[in-house]
Amino acid sequence: MEKIDADKLQEGLNTENFGKKIVFLHEAISTNDFAKKLANYGADEGTVIFAEEQSAGKGRLGRTWISPRGGLYFSIILKPKIKVSDAVKLVFVASLAVAETIRDLYGLNAETKWPNDVLVDGKKVCGILAEMSSMGEHLKFVVLGVGVNANFNVREKFPKKLQKTATSLQEVLDRKVDGEKLFKKLLEKLENFYACFLQSGFVQILEEWKELASFLGRQVVVLSGNRKWTGTALNVEKDGSLILKLEDGTVKRFLSGDVTLRVE
Ligand code: BTN
Repeated sequence: MEKIDADKLQEGLNTENFGKKIVFLHEAISTNDFAKKLANYGADEGTVIFAEEQSAGKGRLGRTWISPRGGLYFSIILKPKIKVSDAVKLVFVASLAVAETIRDLYGLNAETKWPNDVLVDGKKVCGILAEMSSMGEHLKFVVLGVGVNANFNVREKFPKKLQKTATSLQEVLDRKVDGEKLFKKLLEKLENFYACFLQSGFVQILEEWKELASFLGRQVVVLSGNRKWTGTALNVEKDGSLILKLEDGTVKRFLSGDVTLRVE
């Protein structure tokens, strides 16, 4: 995937709604920002903004998402009829879809990590950024942004500091992957899991997500706000929160934060 063929992104795409409209950009500032603008103008659910690279890709907690050519960067507009407080669950829907896609297409042992990461070989290969717009209790839309480190080498494109914690499909497979195929398979899975979430609720999604979450039961460090907590990751509950058993035996719940596995 040196270059993505815009027409091929929809060729044979087996979805009902997702990706029926795709805005293809050679370069975006951030596909999430672009998608939010379109959603505010009334764009349909399932509309995708796809960029070959981003000049200011956004990560969680105000971080930058380094987005060189070769990666997969897209955002999808969703308009689920759910409570504002349930919107966070869409991150689990998306990370499950990514992890399963990577497993199915490449036979890699992709894992989910709370709250929004997909790992291969213990290193981050994908991040998800969900942003929503609401009016009081009414959820207007959610933009779900997906960034996959696909066809570039992290050791060439990322600063040294991030090379310890990030990887790419190219790096683990030692070859390039078919970007259009990856995108389509991912979108198909995403649509299926999204439908399952809306029809049957979060429990089944969460169960499958937890099956791929090897950090559960292990010693982790959680960064939340400006504080650091160490303990055993006990569970992710049905509101999406992480339950940690601290070293003094107390149990603490986190609604947001970052998890790092402790080296034992
Ligand atoms: C994270 O792990 O911090 C989330 C990263 C999300 C990156 C994707 S790339 C496509 C979309 N557009 C953005 O600006 N960010 C998301």
